[in-house]
Amino acid sequence: MDSSIGNTEKKDELVDALLDWYDHNARTLPWRISPEDKIGGINSDPYHVWLSEIMLQQTTVITVIPYFEKFIEEWPTVEKMAAAELDDILTAWAGLGYYARARNLYKCAQYVCHELDGKFPDNYEDLIKLPGIGTYTAAAISAIVYDQPETVIDGNVERVISRLFNISTPLPESRPEIRTYAEKLTPNHRPGDYAQALMDLGATICTSRALKCDVCPLEDECSSRALGTAEDLPVRKNKKVRPTRRGYAFWAEYDGKVWLRKRPEKGLLGGMMEVPSDEWAPSNSWENIPSPRIPIIANWEILPGMVRHTFTHFHLELKIIRLDLEETINLQEGEWCAVENRDYYALPTVMKKIFTHVGQPLLDL
Ligand code: ADE
Repeated sequence: MDSSIGNTEKKDELVDALLDWYDHNARTLPWRISPEDKIGGINSDPYHVWLSEIMLQQTTVITVIPYFEKFIEEWPTVEKMAAAELDDILTAWAGLGYYARARNLYKCAQYVCHELDGKFPDNYEDLIKLPGIGTYTAAAISAIVYDQPETVIDGNVERVISRLFNISTPLPESRPEIRTYAEKLTPNHRPGDYAQALMDLGATICTSRALKCDVCPLEDECSSRALGTAEDLPVRKNKKVRPTRRGYAFWAEYDGKVWLRKRPEKGLLGGMMEVPSDEWAPSNSWENIPSPRIPIIANWEILPGMVRHTFTHFHLELKIIRLDLEETINLQEGEWCAVENRDYYALPTVMKKIFTHVGQPLLDL
């Protein structure tokens, strides 16, 4: 296969097979213009593609669709988004994770409106200068919206290319090799549809497990299929084991209101609301965690069970201490928030889990 990609005919065969498959099997996605409509002259909306691609980093299409629809309903244009309040963007983003992305989204919308007259740049070099836009997103927007032959590589594409060319070097070391192959394969003709086709193929056929090689349009061209190695690729270096942090969170309630505070703007869950807690201490067991430092004088109890959440770099276990106040008190920081309004606060998933744990699940309106 190595030499075959240098062969133009082979490359054309591969690309044509993929595009033909896409013409019949493209997923219907709210930000996507179908191949048929594209032929009819309808173009992708750069605002839609930008928003969806930012949301899709590290998250699946299924998770993103309702968020995308909510955002477009609330802020149908980039101008509307730029004029919004950051807190409203964070609230609408709550649950998608990686909150720095939502802050950059807002910054980017403002930049595009205030500096670029509301128009997204139409090329990679200018797109990559915008807040929150990296190599992946700049390439995706250039290819999908402006049909520029940029190479778009996400996790799905890495998997497809590793298998197609039987790349056995483990990730992440194999990335340059994957890029070389992917760049050679990128066509000048329909590069946007081609990029989306590769991603759809990775998401629906060339999946991590339960691969569907027998219906893959690239089966005959696939080195790993021929060698019987597809299921073992891509190889990943042993991932570091995530450590666990543990701590106590304080659910203080008075008259239907719960004590919440805003997290610092910078850092993990920056600018999001939280149920206050003690330090989240790295520890192998609860025995090493210091007793909770109860911040308010009140009747309190430790609720049975705990809330578990996994972040990129650690697992978190929180025991919840419930404090019931008879009278209101002045809070040093944070505020009393009506529990019934819980869907309108910018609560990240771990905090939503605490609400569920105390019997106040969010409705996610
Ligand atoms: N994953 C991320 N972006 C995508 C896109 N444009 N099409 C399909 N899957 C994707």
